[in-house]
Formats: sequence, C-alpha cells, structure tokens
Amino acid sequence: MGVELTGKVAIVTGCAQGIGEAVAKKLAERGATVVGFDKQGELLEKVMSGISGVPMLVDVTDAEADEKAVQEVYKRYGHVDILANVAGGTVGAGRGVEDLTIEDWHRVVALNLHAPFYMARAVAPIMKAQKWGRIIIIGSGAGRSHSRSRIIPYAAAKAGAHGLMRQLAVELAPFNVLCNVVAPGFVLSPLGVEDWARRSEAEKEMEMSTISVKRLADPMEIANVVAFMASEESSYVVGQTIMTDGGHWML
Ligand SMILES: NC(=O)c1ccc[n+]([C@@H]2O[C@H](COP(=O)([O-])OP(=O)(O)OC[C@H]3O[C@@H](n4cnc5c(N)ncnc54)[C@H](O)[C@@H]3O)[C@@H](O)[C@H]2O)c1
Repeated sequence: MGVELTGKVAIVTGCAQGIGEAVAKKLAERGATVVGFDKQGELLEKVMSGISGVPMLVDVTDAEADEKAVQEVYKRYGHVDILANVAGGTVGAGRGVEDLTIEDWHRVVALNLHAPFYMARAVAPIMKAQKWGRIIIIGSGAGRSHSRSRIIPYAAAKAGAHGLMRQLAVELAPFNVLCNVVAPGFVLSPLGVEDWARRSEAEKEMEMSTISVKRLADPMEIANVVAFMASEESSYVVGQTIMTDGGHWML
C-alpha cells in the first residue's frame, strides 16, 4: 500500500526517459492520469503507451507551447492537479568559465529555470481555482551546494529553480497549491550513466566516498519521493527542498 493518486491529473515533463519516465510510471501506478510532455516523440509515445498516459510533444523551453499544452490538458479533463517538472539537464555545457559560451549559458538556464517557471505560470490559475495542487520541481544537489560535474549554468539554474519554488510556495500555499523541490544526487538515468562514465576510477572512488549509502540511485527511488510529494499525504510540506541523495549532502 502506498500513496493514493486516483482521480488526479498529472503533467510530467521530461518523461521520455530517466527520472521523468520513472515518475510517470509511479504516478500512473498510484492511479493518476498522466500527461507526458517531452521533445523526444518516439520514446515518449512508448513510455505513455505502457501506462495508458497521453503523450504531448512539447519543448518546455517554449513558454507559448507550454501554455497551449496546459490549456489542452485542462480542456480535456477539467482539472490539472499535479505538475512534476522533471525536464532538465546539463545539455553539453561542461566547460570551465572561460570556455563557456553565452549560448551554453542560455540553453541550460532556459531548460532548468525558465521552463519550470513557464509551466508553473500556466498551471497556477487552474490549481488556485480548484483549491488543490502540487507543483514539484526536480532540483539537484548542484543547486544547493555546487555542481560536481563543474557545470556553471546548471548549478546557477538549479539554485534559481529552488528559489523559484520557495517563492511559488509562499504565494500559492494559501490556495492549497503546495510547491516543493525534490533534489537528487547521482541517479542512474541515461544522463546520470553518461555523466558517471566520463569520470576516472579515482574520481568515482572519491565521489562514492561522499555518498553515505555507497551506491547511486535508481530513478524509481526519486519517483517514490515525487509520488509522496504529489499526494494528499504531503499536505503540511511546503517550500522544502527534499534532498534525495543517499546522504550525499551529509558528507
Ligand atoms: N541523473 C542525475 O544524476 C540527476 C541528478 C540531479 C538532478 N537531476 C535532474 O533530474 C531531471 C531528470 O534528469 P535525468 O537524469 O532523468 O535526465 P535525462 O537526460 O535522462 O532525461 C531528461 C528528459 O528530459 C527531456 N527534455 C530535455 N529537454 C527538454 C525540452 N526542452 N523539452 C521537453 N523535454 C525535454 C529529454 O528528452 C529526456 O526525456 C533533470 O532536471 C536533472 O537536472 C538528475
């Protein structure tokens, strides 16, 4: 027995693979109707068909497309209860400060900070009117301390996303729209596997020594926390960054 999401309509961004895929599957398993936004059409369709979800091809960095897609979901179901902003990543910006291009900066900030704002802006009036909502942003340990992959715009954008969430939390909590961040450490998603593989054995050993549980996360371990944060049972958790990092933050 776990958290119950029957009757809820959930939008999950970035769910064609990785953590988003796990979140979509977990929310559906708990009874939610899942609408998945992603820019990888084929993979998205495959994931959604496995959970009887609805795929929508959306580039979440496009504010107008986000607004239009959210309105479509609202028209179809008459409510939107859960927004899980999972789409994000470092999108190839792993360079030191002098080599980082302006384009790198804008690309990473657009995906990790602007997109969650566009999405929240689109769902907020719907959730406020129905007096129930959950907005969850997948943040990162990089947003709380620093990026261990040394990706400057990523750390900056995730820190911004954590701040965005806190501000939304204060503004929307009186309407029973609760906002929180779930912040993973190292997760074995396609992005995480690639990132881990780039490291030398010495680096891996050093990183592992700073993770209390001495292993990387399975995406479903992040999804389990998101499902709780999306449920009625998280009704007194507001404006928090839930570190879901195997005790990485502790060491
Ligand atoms: N993997 C980790 O170790 C880790 C650690 C901390 C935080 N995170 C965060 O978790 C989230 C998910 O990461 P992941 O590891 O599953 O990544 P991933 O790269 O495996 O998957 C990201 C998904 O987002 C989609 N996406 C990317 N840009 C998009 C856009 N513009 N519009 C719509 N969809 C888009 C991709 O198509 C993909 O399906 C990200 O926000 C990431 O920053 C991951």
